[in-house]
Amino acid sequence: MIVAPSMLAANIKALPEEIEKINNSDASWIHLDIMDGAFVPNTSFDEDLVSKIRKLTTKFLDVHLMTFNPLALIERYKKAGADLITFHYEAEKDPLSVIRKIHANGIKAGISIKPQTKVEAIIEYLPFVDVVLVMSVEPGLGGQKFLTNAIAKVEELKKLKEIKKYPYLIEVDGGINQETAPLVKAKGCDVVVSGSYLFKALSFSKAVKVIS
Ligand code: DX5
Ligand code: ZN
Repeated sequence: MIVAPSMLAANIKALPEEIEKINNSDASWIHLDIMDGAFVPNTSFDEDLVSKIRKLTTKFLDVHLMTFNPLALIERYKKAGADLITFHYEAEKDPLSVIRKIHANGIKAGISIKPQTKVEAIIEYLPFVDVVLVMSVEPGLGGQKFLTNAIAKVEELKKLKEIKKYPYLIEVDGGINQETAPLVKAKGCDVVVSGSYLFKALSFSKAVKVIS
């Protein structure tokens, strides 16, 4: 699987060193959680951090918008260097317009569902997205316990993808570690996001290998 270290768990005060760790590992994406204090209670990073990171790496920048009104943020994050922008289905009345605008900016588009949202809810958008991000914790906080209902969602998305020949990647975010990564891998997950497990590991690059 592709591994996407989540910067939420990194030491932002030592940004060059943290990015160097990622650059020296097999992780090929970097996951950036953007929170607005409204769709989720906390706030986190903005586009300034994305542009700083863009200057330090050639890795694929995976921006996860946990915000209302994603449409208004697309150009800013594209300009900052995002390769993929994922927004939440629950935060948007017109997901198709967001997908179209992301694509019009020349980057990949992802749609994300919270633990309570069923795959069924996003069926009509599946032909148009590059990534489906399954949340395996309530969005908004790192270090939470993996919610097992994500496993069946991965399985369902994998089946749909095969039957309908959809091109999206299946990504899982939250509580990923050496025990939970194999559970989603077995069902066809393509990308795992991991924050606390990777950044607390004694060897970052070994930990990346363990969950890949
Ligand atoms: C949670 C975020 C995750 C978070 C994952 O709202 O979307 O990306 O950083 O962190 P861990 O791996 O610690 O659960
Ligand atoms: Zn995330």
